Amino acid sequence: MASYDVIVIGSGPGGYVCAIRCAQLGLKTACVEGRDTLGGTCLNVGCIPSKALLHASHMLHEAEHNFATMGLKGKSPSVDWKQMQTYKEDTIGQNTKGIEFLFKKNKIDWLKGWGSIPAAGQVKVGDDIHTAKNIIVASGSEPSSLPGITIDEKVVVTSTGALELPKVPKHLAVIGAGVIGLELGSVYKRLGSEVTVVEYLDAVTPGMDAEVQKTFQRTLKKQGLKFIMGAAVQSVDATKTKAKVHYKLRKDDSENILDADVVLVATGRRPFTDGLGLADLGVAMSERGQIKVDAHWQTSVPGIYAIGDVIDGPMLAHKAEDEGMAAAEQVAGKLGHVNYGVIPGVIYTHPEVANVGVTEEELKEQGVPYKVGKFSFMGNGRAKANFAGDGFVKILAHKETDRILGAHIIGPAAGDLIHEICVAMEFGASAEDLALTCHAHPTYSEAVREAALACGDGAIHS
Ligand code: NAI
Repeated sequence: MASYDVIVIGSGPGGYVCAIRCAQLGLKTACVEGRDTLGGTCLNVGCIPSKALLHASHMLHEAEHNFATMGLKGKSPSVDWKQMQTYKEDTIGQNTKGIEFLFKKNKIDWLKGWGSIPAAGQVKVGDDIHTAKNIIVASGSEPSSLPGITIDEKVVVTSTGALELPKVPKHLAVIGAGVIGLELGSVYKRLGSEVTVVEYLDAVTPGMDAEVQKTFQRTLKKQGLKFIMGAAVQSVDATKTKAKVHYKLRKDDSENILDADVVLVATGRRPFTDGLGLADLGVAMSERGQIKVDAHWQTSVPGIYAIGDVIDGPMLAHKAEDEGMAAAEQVAGKLGHVNYGVIPGVIYTHPEVANVGVTEEELKEQGVPYKVGKFSFMGNGRAKANFAGDGFVKILAHKETDRILGAHIIGPAAGDLIHEICVAMEFGASAEDLALTCHAHPTYSEAVREAALACGDGAIHS
């Protein structure tokens, strides 16, 4: 039993970043984590392992499709699934151990076990009750399934099971054309699976810019992914080795069946607050099971804060990190701030997809006068040399003030390029500011500048 200034519950990107910032600000800090390793979903069964598999499968794709053209001869590599899993596990290990090191460096106590809050100011871990002036809940989220589907993490899997399948499936059915479905679907497609994505809506990745949605789906189709759109999955029947996905087409109500070896259920995630004891404490919750917080991330119970996937907003690691830092500053008596208008979103497929700010559809709906600057990667020398000419940069700026309101990129390194626009937006920059900034040649980032130029007198290379 010990007493702390702050106890953070959960060591995902929100929780561990929050704990480090608390310690850096001079607060005596502990972090509760029940997994065997730190890092939460993101490092253990989410962002990091999926990126290892995305990278490996992209390398295979390059070898199979582009090596010969570049004059690189020889047999294409084949998939050693066991070794790829080892590479993925090593990647996870390096990252989770890195956080353990940072905890030691910052003198943060790792309270091992699952935490609960018996009363404000107390955190129970195992049989021990620790006291804390402030408690920050960062317990994250878990996959949410559909009624009529039983997850066994073998044949019917969530993203967690999909990362550690015993072998590459012959036919993978993916329910949901959201971020998880498309990232993991494209991994298995490149590794040799037949992949069919069943999506309720008529477009992939809901909420994204419509032009990007169309280009993205077309690109994935070209890569061999199959799509059944406008299809509501009703149930899944599974044996130990096979599954049948029952779905109804919305256009004619017809009932259909899709056979698969593995079914990935990627229909969203929900806040994970089980066992914390929030209801007994009277912590106010939303109808969607999120913890309600005020502008300073404080819940309805003074001294208890919440950040990340358990509260409102996009379920993104970097949004949780920003809230973690800001909540730490609040608790330390400073002014923490998150600009929710400038949170990038990235889908790590090939090509990558990235966005920040508003979509064109939102601007139309809001009646905001705007202009569009668009530039295709086909006009970018570096992209052409790297077989990465598919896609474009699209910048939306205010028609009168030229202020950048949003950007949407599909193409090489989109997830990195987007940050140039995030910084510009943070500084309230105009498209002209970006267009007048010298960009090194030859780089992908020239496509961003060209899109900014296209908001004014025109891009040079289109
Ligand atoms: P999602 O909310 O992105 O997509 C779920 C999709 O499933 C939607 O398109 C929805 O229309 C569809 N769907 C729902 N019910 C259906 C039904 N009965 N039949 C057919 N389709 C149905 O959810 P996803 O991909 O599971 O991701 C969960 C969360 O994790 C998201 O908030 C996402 O932002 C986050 N995430 C982010 C990543 C990134 O930033 N790269 C990577 C992985 C996850």
